[in-house]
Amino acid sequence: IKKITTETLRKMKFDNDKISMITAYDFTTAKMVDAGGIDAVLVGDSAANVMAGFETTLPITLDQMIYHTQCVVRGIDRALVVADLPFGTYQSNPEKALESAVRMMKEGGAHAVKIEGGKEIEESIRKIVNAGIPVMGHLGLTPQSIYQFGTYKVRAKEDAEAEKLISDAKLLEELGCFAVVLEKIPADLAKKVTEAITIPTIGIGAGANCDGQVLVYHDMVGMNKGFSPKFLRRYLDLYTEITGAVAQYVKDVKSVDFPNESESY
Ligand code: KIV
Ligand code: NA
Repeated sequence: IKKITTETLRKMKFDNDKISMITAYDFTTAKMVDAGGIDAVLVGDSAANVMAGFETTLPITLDQMIYHTQCVVRGIDRALVVADLPFGTYQSNPEKALESAVRMMKEGGAHAVKIEGGKEIEESIRKIVNAGIPVMGHLGLTPQSIYQFGTYKVRAKEDAEAEKLISDAKLLEELGCFAVVLEKIPADLAKKVTEAITIPTIGIGAGANCDGQVLVYHDMVGMNKGFSPKFLRRYLDLYTEITGAVAQYVKDVKSVDFPNESESY
């Protein structure tokens, strides 16, 4: 099996070959998305939401993200595994950022790390990249800044924020990031950014002109009943499937239909 590397993704942009990315937080899911042929797996700090039930991504710790990453890496043969550095582990100073990234690579076994922001975290990115660790950027709606934004609405609709986003994207390329996630921004702006840089853009709610797309696994398989933003395409309705299966199991246990003779020793 030919493993996907950061170089593969750069080449995919060059060849106009779209990049598919999805989140995973555990071994069993990692095996399934890898078997489905996904190019890159994101161990997202969205684990704080979908695995732990928090309202925001802020509470998850580096130790917890390392644990999720270890579980995912054990299930992957082909895909590139990118792990989010959580809130508070890279913003304060570049030395701490490098320390966090090193732990994620060494203990977590990630192939790359992702961090949110542009100019503000320039020195942290430089430090991590200089240590030989591949960095994926993340611009637009960066959920670790939700208390500053105050809303999960589309970002960069105004010129000033759009211009900052374009210059941040160029800066990320300059600093040596291998790719950048663009979250919830106008499709026109994502197209502009994609054309302005030579590293791949991976969109979520950023239109079809990005070099790739990423979705949260639990959302795309329909496990997350209450969450249905416009950008989300649901490929399954697992919430209904699973609650139905559990209801049937409950019924079978109560009626002593399960286990039957062939299911007994
Ligand atoms: O944590 C996450 O799932 C993410 C993606 C939505 C890009 O950062
Ligand atoms: Na994230």
